[in-house]
This record gives sequence, structure tokens and C-alpha cells, in this order.
Amino acid sequence: MGNKVFNLLLICIFIITFPLHSTAKVEDSACLTCHQYPGLVRQDDNTGLKILHIDSEKYRTTPHGHLDCKACHLDVDKIPHVGNNMTTCQSGCHQSDKDIALLAKTPRKGFHRNEQSVITNLEDKTSCKVCHKIYPHKKEPFARAFLNMHTGYMVCEVCHLDRSKFTVSRYDWVQTRDVAFQGDAFGSFYTPDNNISQKSDSILSRIAPYVYKDGKLQALMNTWDTDGAHKVCSSRSRLDEDEKTIEIRHYHRDVVKMEHTTACVECHSSMSMIDFSSLGFTTEQAVALKNLNIGNIIKKYEVFYMPSM
Ligand code: HEC
Ligand code: HEC
Ligand code: HEC
Ligand code: HEC
Ligand code: HEC
Repeated sequence: MGNKVFNLLLICIFIITFPLHSTAKVEDSACLTCHQYPGLVRQDDNTGLKILHIDSEKYRTTPHGHLDCKACHLDVDKIPHVGNNMTTCQSGCHQSDKDIALLAKTPRKGFHRNEQSVITNLEDKTSCKVCHKIYPHKKEPFARAFLNMHTGYMVCEVCHLDRSKFTVSRYDWVQTRDVAFQGDAFGSFYTPDNNISQKSDSILSRIAPYVYKDGKLQALMNTWDTDGAHKVCSSRSRLDEDEKTIEIRHYHRDVVKMEHTTACVECHSSMSMIDFSSLGFTTEQAVALKNLNIGNIIKKYEVFYMPSM
């Protein structure tokens, strides 16, 4: 946990150091500030999931662990970056004919596979999961991987609930059993007795909005539409476009889309909609989560890429 706080501080220092109006120059040591997080992934048209997490301790124990990231990643020179896949094995290394021949036969894909962790399956019995993947965000290039990472921290409704229709009394934990991981298990495991701790191999605690329903405070995650959603899925090919639109609209009647340019500050700011302390985070962690200024990167992303792409 101490480590986490330290890393958050690093992010803050890192971001403050970069003026918002110019493109930031990336220092080698900064890469893991963002890439250290399990669940940082994007969808890839060819390979399904592209895992962007690199576990720093595991990385350090690999044969290449003494190298700066940029020794091989030549084209990552600004924040934010998207689609930087150029790697070299020859900046100062592997220059003999024998090495070059060997490298030609060695696939680069999966180079970091032993340093990466993601959720491969999560059965939370919600309607959302019938139609959407656990890592559903793919549109907004730089924000998507961070948004995907958060689906391991909280249920969809924390960000996607139409709050004009519900009075959220507070945010609290729900447990999902039947979670499967690739790499190491990660995330929070919360019980009221032992607070937040690191987790078991198949149970994950995530944050959910709680509302009063039938006089009882209950977690609001849509499980009442799940059967219907399964039926729509199995009959989807028989529906015409208009029917599909109507069905989808029905399942989204309580769903809103958060604006990605302001999403991060909804929680990571002094105005946070989530009271981190009441969820069991230590004061130190709560302060660090509020001060996490990474939202500025997402805003800057807009400025930098929108005109040219
Ligand atoms: C401020 C956070 C941040 C920092 C710092 C950062 N990255 Fe990234 N990086 C990301 C995010 C987010 C993506 C995913 C973008 C997307 O969804 O396409 C990414 C994507 C990548 C990719 C492309 C993977 C792919 O095929 O999609 C590589 C390679 C990469 N980063 C390497 C690095 C290296 C090397 C450094 C340090 C020099 C670094 N990153 C620093 C956040 C960061
Ligand atoms: C010895 C060379 C080397 C070093 C050092 C290295 N990488 Fe990589 N990295 C690669 C190769 C090779 C790939 C695979 C590229 C491909 O699929 O074509 C890769 C892929 C990635 C990806 C894309 C995800 C994936 O698994 O394909 C990210 C993100 C990334 N590296 C980040 C880092 C970070 C952060 C560091 C430093 C902590 C680092 N790399 C150090 C060689 C290296
Ligand atoms: C019957 C299938 C189905 C169910 C159930 C469903 N969705 Fe969707 N959803 C879709 C489809 C199809 C789209 C449009 C294509 C896309 O963006 O993936 C979509 C789009 C979205 C969007 C983007 C909307 C926009 O304006 O771009 C959000 C946000 C979303 N869904 C959230 C949810 C959440 C949260 C739940 C659970 C409460 C849910 N969905 C349940 C099928 C479904
Ligand atoms: C941390 C907040 C957060 C959580 C948790 C979250 N989302 Fe999102 N989601 C967003 C934001 C912000 C956007 C808008 C991104 C954009 O502008 O494209 C979005 C967009 C979407 C989209 C459409 C755009 C895209 O990226 O393809 C879908 C579909 C979606 N969310 C589904 C879900 C589902 C399903 C879950 C639960 C498994 C979920 N989201 C959990 C914040 C979140
Ligand atoms: C609905 C609230 C919410 C939104 C919106 C949100 N976050 Fe978070 N974020 C959290 C919570 C809660 C955690 C801590 C989860 C945990 O440790 O269990 C977290 C953790 C993080 C962490 C990891 C911090 C650490 O060291 O554990 C990063 C980085 C982060 N968020 C970045 C972002 C970015 C970037 C965005 C916008 C794209 C964003 N967040 C949007 C609630 C949110």
C-alpha cells in the first residue's frame, strides 16, 4: 500500500513537471508510473486483448530488467502516446550476425507476457456483462485503457448510472466470486472486519452505488434485466435494425455515458463523488487518490491529437 502511495506521488510530480500546453518528453523511469497497473488493457482488432501492464518487480528480474524501457521502445517520446509498437533489440546489444539471425526467428509478440496480469473472466450476473466485455472501452484512444482498468475496481453503474433517476445514498463494496486472472490475482478484497487487503485467487471486491430499495440499502447493479438480455442476444440475428435499436435502448434506460474529458476529475479531485475514506482507504491513500492529477493528461490528449487524426 505504501508503494502505491509513493507511485501516486510519482505520477503527480511527473504530471506537474510537464507544462500542459506542450507535448511532454518522456523520461525512461516514468514509463511504469502508468504501465505498472494490472488491468491496463485495450482491445486489439487482431489479438483480442493488448495488455499494457508491466509488473515492475517482475520486469526487474528478467534478463532485460536492467535496461531502460526506451532502450527498446524507440518511438515512445511523448505523452500521451497511442499505437507505438516500434521496438528494437539492437540499441547497443545483439549486433553480431549470430544474434541477428537468432532474433529474426524469435517472435517479439508476448515479450512481456510473464510480467502482465489481467482479468480473463468475471461473472457478476449483470445485464451489462451479457452484452459487454469486462474491458469494454475502446473508443477514446488514451483514456480507454485507464477506463478498462477501473472495471476491476468498480461496477459499471458507478460511472454509467443515470443519477437523475436514482438517489445514491453511498458507495460501498460488493463481492464477485468466480473471477479468473491471467498472471497474478490483483485488486481489492474487502470485508468489514479486516478492511481492504490484497485478495484471494477468485474473489474480487468492487465499489458499487447503494440505493434504498424496498426499504433496504442495496447495491445497485443491474441483475434484473439479465435474463431478458440473454434472450435478446440469442435472438439478435433475427431482429432488424429498428428492433435492435429499441431493445438496446430498453437495456440502457438507466445508463448514461460519462464525458471522458471530465471523467477522471469526477473522482480524482477534491470534488470527488466518492468518499474514499468511508470506503476504508487510509487517509494517506484517500488524499493520494483525490490528488491524482492524471486527468490532465486525458484533457491534453484532446488538444494534442484531435486535429491531426
Ligand atoms: C501517463 C501514462 C503513461 C506513461 C507515463 C507511459 N505510457 Fe505507454 N501507454 C499509456 C497508455 C494509456 C497506453 C494505451 C494507449 C491506447 O489505448 O492505445 C500506452 C501505450 C503504450 C504502448 C503501445 C502498446 C500498444 O500496442 O498499444 C507502448 C509500447 C508503451 N505505451 C510504452 C511506454 C514506454 C516505453 C513509456 C516510457 C518511455 C511509456 N509507455 C510511458 C500510458 C502511459
Ligand atoms: C529488451 C527490449 C525491451 C525492453 C527493455 C522493454 N520492452 Fe516493452 N516490449 C518489447 C517488445 C519486443 C515488445 C513486443 C512488441 C511487439 O509485439 O511487436 C514490447 C511490448 C511492450 C508493450 C506493449 C504490450 C505488449 O505486451 O505487447 C508495452 C506497454 C511495453 N512493452 C512497455 C515497456 C515498459 C514500460 C518497459 C520498461 C519497464 C519496457 N517495455 C521495456 C521490448 C522491450
Ligand atoms: C442487450 C445488449 C446490451 C445490454 C444488456 C447492455 N448493453 Fe450497453 N450497448 C450495447 C450495444 C449493442 C451498444 C452499442 C455498441 C457499442 O458501443 O458497443 C452499447 C453501448 C453502450 C454504451 C455507449 C453508449 C453511447 O452513447 O455510446 C454504454 C455506456 C453502455 N452500453 C453501457 C451499458 C451498461 C452500463 C449496461 C448495463 C446496465 C449495458 N450497457 C447493457 C448492448 C447492450
Ligand atoms: C471509471 C468510470 C467507468 C467505469 C467503471 C465504466 N465506464 Fe464505460 N465509459 C466511461 C467513460 C468516461 C466513457 C466515455 C468514453 C468516450 O468518450 O468514448 C465510457 C464509455 C463506455 C462505452 C462506449 C465507448 C467505448 O469506449 O467503446 C461503453 C460500451 C461502456 N463505457 C461500457 C461500460 C461497461 C459495460 C462497464 C462495466 C463493465 C463500464 N463501461 C464501466 C467510464 C466508465
Ligand atoms: C467513479 C470514480 C472514478 C473515476 C471516474 C476514475 N477513477 Fe481512477 N480510481 C478510482 C478508485 C476508487 C481507485 C482506487 C481503486 C482501488 O485501489 O481499489 C482509482 C484508481 C486509479 C489509479 C490507480 C491509483 C493507484 O495507485 O492505485 C489511477 C492511475 C487512476 N485511477 C486513474 C484514473 C483516470 C486516468 C481516470 C479517467 C480516465 C479515472 N481514474 C477515473 C475511481 C475513479
